[in-house]
Amino acid sequence: MSFPDAIVAKLTAPGPLVAPSILSADFTQLGAELRSVESADWVHVDVMDGRFVPNITIGPLVAAAAAKASPLPIDCHLMIVEPDRYLADFAAAGAHIITVHAEACTHLDRTVQAIRQLGCWAGVSLNPHTHESVLDYVLDEVDLVLLMTVNPGFGGQSLIDRVFPKIERVKAEITRRGLRTRVQVDGGVKPENAHRFVDAGADVLVAGSAVFGAKDRAAAIAGVRAARRPGA
Ligand code: DX5
Ligand code: ZN
Repeated sequence: MSFPDAIVAKLTAPGPLVAPSILSADFTQLGAELRSVESADWVHVDVMDGRFVPNITIGPLVAAAAAKASPLPIDCHLMIVEPDRYLADFAAAGAHIITVHAEACTHLDRTVQAIRQLGCWAGVSLNPHTHESVLDYVLDEVDLVLLMTVNPGFGGQSLIDRVFPKIERVKAEITRRGLRTRVQVDGGVKPENAHRFVDAGADVLVAGSAVFGAKDRAAAIAGVRAARRPGA
C-alpha cells in the first residue's frame, strides 16, 4: 500500500467516520458538492450496473473526477456483476478502497487478492440477507466489511433493523481475531439514528441523502459523526 500519509491517516483514523455518498449529490456541480463535504472523512462512490442492482449510476470516469476534486480517500462501492473486469479501471481512477459484493463474486478470495495487488484496500459487502459466515475464510485478508442496511440500488431508503445483530457479530469476530478491518454500514443512516450503528460496532457510516439533502452539509456530517442519542 503506497498511499500518501494524509490518506493513510484518514483511512485509519478512529471512528466514527463519515463517508458521504455522492449518489445523492447534484452532478451538475460535482466539484462544488465535493468541496461542501470536505469536513467528512471519506467520499463514497456508488457504482451500479443495472444487473446486480436495478439502477445504473456511475463508472470509473466519474470516480476519477471525484478523486481529482476531493482530498479525501475515494471509497468505491461496486454493486456490479463480474467486478474483476473493472478493478484495474477503478484503481487507475484513483480509488483507495474498492469494495465488491460477496454475492457477485464466485471466487471472492481471488478478487480480494486482486484488489490488494492493485495497491488498494479491499472491501467486501454483504446484502441485508447474506449471512456473515461467508466472510469466515477471507476476513483476515479484508480491509473493510461493508454491511448493507438497505437493499442496494437506491439512496433515501429506510434502514432494515434486522441487520443490527449482524453488525455486532462481525465486529465481535474482527475483535476476536485482533484484526484492524473496518466495519462500514450503508443505507438509511441519519444523525438521529447514527448512534445505533456505532453502538452495534460500525466505525464508518455512509450517508447519502442525510448529507447531500441537508442545506448545511458540515452540520449534517458533524451530526452523523457525533452519533448522538435522541435528546442527548
Ligand atoms: C445504496 C447505496 C448507498 C446509498 C445510501 O445502494 O449503496 O450508498 O447512497 O443512501 P442513503 O444514505 O440515502 O440511504
Ligand atoms: Zn454504497
